[in-house]
Amino acid sequence: MVALSRRHFVSSSLAGAAALWLPAGARAAACPRTESLTAGPFYRRGAPDSTDLRLSGVAGRELVLDLTVRGQDCKPVFPVLIDLWHADPRGNYDLEGFRFRTRHASDRPGVRLVTFVPGRYPGRTPHLHLTVSAPGHRPLTTQLYFPGAALNERDFLFRPSLLLNLASDIQSAGPLSGSYTFYLQPA
Ligand SMILES: [Fe+2]
Repeated sequence: MVALSRRHFVSSSLAGAAALWLPAGARAAACPRTESLTAGPFYRRGAPDSTDLRLSGVAGRELVLDLTVRGQDCKPVFPVLIDLWHADPRGNYDLEGFRFRTRHASDRPGVRLVTFVPGRYPGRTPHLHLTVSAPGHRPLTTQLYFPGAALNERDFLFRPSLLLNLASDIQSAGPLSGSYTFYLQPA
């Protein structure tokens, strides 16, 4: 038994040492890849750069988003350009103006955006639309979802890999804080 454990230790150590000598491309393969999803029909060009999309006069549940962008080597990528658009708390998109829409440029590795939790609309569970762009990388268009949302499993566009990491459950009351890390592919 002792001999077996020792052999296992030796083989594990050799495997670990071998991994250190893998070509850079092979090591990068272990880095997650963010799923892309359709932008849908409600994107509008020209959104102003804003980090706070909350509106006075609109009842909504605060949502703080901490977003990180990483490259194929898993290292933070910046500067970045993040387009975020989503439905208002009642499930309606602003198709005439830019409510709940931003095109935010940042030269920092992490971005914090504050908004309201989007409402659901027919056929869709609550979700956020994003396009993440950075020099030297392919733009990524995708959507983010909320853990615990009742309609997630019935939405054909729902992807478990695109769930926000929420500090508290969506069923709970009060403000929500969520984070997500995007992994971009090289251009
Ligand atoms: Fe949508």
